[in-house]
Amino acid sequence: MSQRHQSRRMEGRVALVTGGGSGIGRAAALAYCREGATVVVAGRRSEELDETVRLIVAEGGEASAIPTDVAIAQQVRELVDLTIERYGRLDAAFNNAGIEGAFAPIAEMPEADFDEVIAINLRGAWLSIKYEIAAMHGLGNGGAIVNTSSFLAKGASVGSTAYSASKGALDALIRAVALEYGPHNIRINNINPGAIQTPMFERLGGLEQIDIIAAFTPLRRVGQPADAADVAVWLSTDEARFVTGQTLMVDGGVSIPHVR
Ligand SMILES: NC(=O)c1ccc[n+]([C@@H]2O[C@H](COP(=O)([O-])OP(=O)(O)OC[C@H]3O[C@@H](n4cnc5c(N)ncnc54)[C@H](OP(=O)(O)O)[C@@H]3O)[C@@H](O)[C@H]2O)c1
Repeated sequence: MSQRHQSRRMEGRVALVTGGGSGIGRAAALAYCREGATVVVAGRRSEELDETVRLIVAEGGEASAIPTDVAIAQQVRELVDLTIERYGRLDAAFNNAGIEGAFAPIAEMPEADFDEVIAINLRGAWLSIKYEIAAMHGLGNGGAIVNTSSFLAKGASVGSTAYSASKGALDALIRAVALEYGPHNIRINNINPGAIQTPMFERLGGLEQIDIIAAFTPLRRVGQPADAADVAVWLSTDEARFVTGQTLMVDGGVSIPHVR
C-alpha cells in the first residue's frame, strides 16, 4: 500500500459519488474509500452500483448503493436524506453523473436531445449541489463538493453544442455557489477532464482514436479513470482547504494553447 493511502486523508468522513457505477465515478468511489471515507454510490443502474460496492468491500472499505436518477429532484433529495440517515454526516460529494448525448451540428440536433443533456449534466448537477449544500449547511461541519465538468466546457468539438453548454454552465454556476457558501466553509470546485478511457470514451469511438489522441496530448497518453478521480479526491481533502470556485483541467496538457 502506498504512503498516500496510509495517510487516509478522508478518515471518518462520508462521501457521496454520483455516476459511481462506472468510469471516473467508480474509480473515485474506490479512491475515497482507500482514503478512509465511507462512500455512497448513486446512479441509475443498480447492478453497476452493486459491483462498485463489491469492489470496495473486497478491499475492506465501507460503501453502499442508492439507485438514483439525478434528473429527478425527488430522487436526489431522497439520496441525500438516506445518506445522512444511514451514516449521520455528509462531508464530500462528487457530482460526476453525466451523459455525452447525441453529437450533431446544431441545425440537425433534435430539441429533445438538447433537453436531455441539460436535464442530466446541468440540472442534475444543480439539484445535487442544492440538496447536498442544504444538508451540509444544516449539519454545520462544512464540506467539499466536486463536480465533473469537461475540457469541452472551454473548448468545443463539432456537434458538442448541448454537451459544451451543459458543462460550461456548470463551470459558471459553481462560482456563485462558492460565494454563497464559502462563509460556511463549504467549498466547491470542478474537474475538467480531457479524454479519459471510460465507457463514455468508448461509446464516442475513443478506442479507435486512442493513438491519435495520445500523439497530440503533451503527456502522450489517454487518461485513465484514476487520473481524474484522484484529483477529485484531492479537492475533497483538507489539503485543498483554501481552494474554492475553481475549474481544474485534468487533460494531460491538451488545453495548453500551443504552436506546433
Ligand atoms: N471520459 C471522458 O473522456 C470524459 C471527459 C470529460 C468529462 N467526462 C465526464 O465524466 C463524467 C463521468 O463519465 P465517464 O467518462 O466516467 O463515463 P461513464 O462510465 O458513462 O459514466 C457516467 C456515469 O453517469 C451515470 N449517469 C448518467 N446519467 C445519470 C442520471 N440521470 N442519473 C444518475 N446517474 C447518471 C451513469 O450511470 P447510469 O447510466 O447507471 O445512470 C454512469 O455511471 C461525466 O460527467 C462525463 O461527462 C468524461
